[in-house]
Amino acid sequence: MSTPAAHPTKTQVCIIGGGPSGLLLSQLLHLKGIANVVLERQSRDYVLSRIRAGVLEQGFAKLMREAQCGERMDREGEIHDGFFIAHGGQLSRVDLHQHSNGNSVMVYGQTEVTRDLYEARDRLNGVVIHNAENVQPHNLKSEAPAGSAESKPYVTYQHAGASHRIDCDYVVGADGYHGVSRKSIPSHVLKEYEKVYPFGWLGVLSRTPPVSPELIYAKHERGFALCSMRSQVLSRYYIQVPLTDSVDNWSDEAFWEELKRRLPTEVANRLVTGPSIEKSIAPLRSFVAEPMRYGNLFLAGDAAHIVPPTGARGLNTAGSDIHYLYHALVQHYAKGDDTGLEQYSAQALARVWKTQRFSWMLTSLLHTFPDNSAYDQKLQEVELQYLFSSEKALGALAENYTGLPF
Ligand code: APR
Ligand code: PHB
Repeated sequence: MSTPAAHPTKTQVCIIGGGPSGLLLSQLLHLKGIANVVLERQSRDYVLSRIRAGVLEQGFAKLMREAQCGERMDREGEIHDGFFIAHGGQLSRVDLHQHSNGNSVMVYGQTEVTRDLYEARDRLNGVVIHNAENVQPHNLKSEAPAGSAESKPYVTYQHAGASHRIDCDYVVGADGYHGVSRKSIPSHVLKEYEKVYPFGWLGVLSRTPPVSPELIYAKHERGFALCSMRSQVLSRYYIQVPLTDSVDNWSDEAFWEELKRRLPTEVANRLVTGPSIEKSIAPLRSFVAEPMRYGNLFLAGDAAHIVPPTGARGLNTAGSDIHYLYHALVQHYAKGDDTGLEQYSAQALARVWKTQRFSWMLTSLLHTFPDNSAYDQKLQEVELQYLFSSEKALGALAENYTGLPF
């Protein structure tokens, strides 16, 4: 394959954002012969420095394999058939395999997903332009006759001081919550929904063996805690903290002691602690922007929706967006059929809202809310009692956690 121009002036699909959403779509389209360019504001090292969640639904893992990016994930990732909920000093296991007709999840860090996608783009000589500044989509919705040159969108940006323009058929906004794409939709068209939670997660990455072979979601009166992992020698832990808290308030020792307080004694006693190699606080928020299409602009991933990390749905919901958009674009270019493009926003949002519901439900169930009344606290407790007393309730939890169908 010829080496593509460093800065193409024309392509079929211009993708703004070189995170997992943009890269996955770019790779899938390339494999179907659909020309595309990814414009990423940051350097590759910066993108790969981000620490994110690490649980993949089966549908996302399948999409990675379809994109010819699943080999290391299948080799190094861990299949998990269940997870634990700790409450009242006890561990209760959610058997995903039993309650979801044999489904499971893949534990594999998002950083590794992104690294695999970058390496796959390199292998195909994909065009990913880093340090693209002032990226701006234009002419997203034109009055000119459909198909005419004047009706086409284009994207401008600067790179190393030079200005560039890419003419294209479609623009995909995969540029995350803080990107330019969603803001390019007129305010009278865009409707945004948001819920801000009164707490955040303090997360620590440590080169220590995981405390448990499966994830532990802990509900405790002192606050939520989560025991996760990246491998058998790399662990990821979180504790709920007030929104006013700061990483500077937390020495490693203080973090480990607080985590132990929120875990059942049997778990706390076997926790292997060590120096944090990453420590940060993330606020929890739910957000959805509608519609996910405006003219020739399509939003995907965090550009259109954000979930609290409790249910590990962020990357997985980006995956279903990409699945729908990829098939819609293939339908358009291969058959001239625009049904998928016309249905994209409604189809993607239908699943987005279901993952919003699941993430909100799990967050509401497991966290300590400062303004909760005694009645509210009893409701949380009885919800957990009901969950573990009902096969159907466990089935609903398992089908959402392993991934609703695309
Ligand atoms: N121009 C070009 N690139 C931009 C711009 C811009 N104006 N604004 C943002 N970007 C880039 C960011 O630097 C980032 O690399 O877009 C990319 C968006 O990536 P993500 O924020 O990771 O979003 P997405 O690819 O949809 O992945 C969703 O990431 O945040 C997590 O929990 C989320 O797991 C989910 C996943
Ligand atoms: C993580 O490993 O970072 C992780 C896992 C599960 C979650 C959230 C985060 O629900």
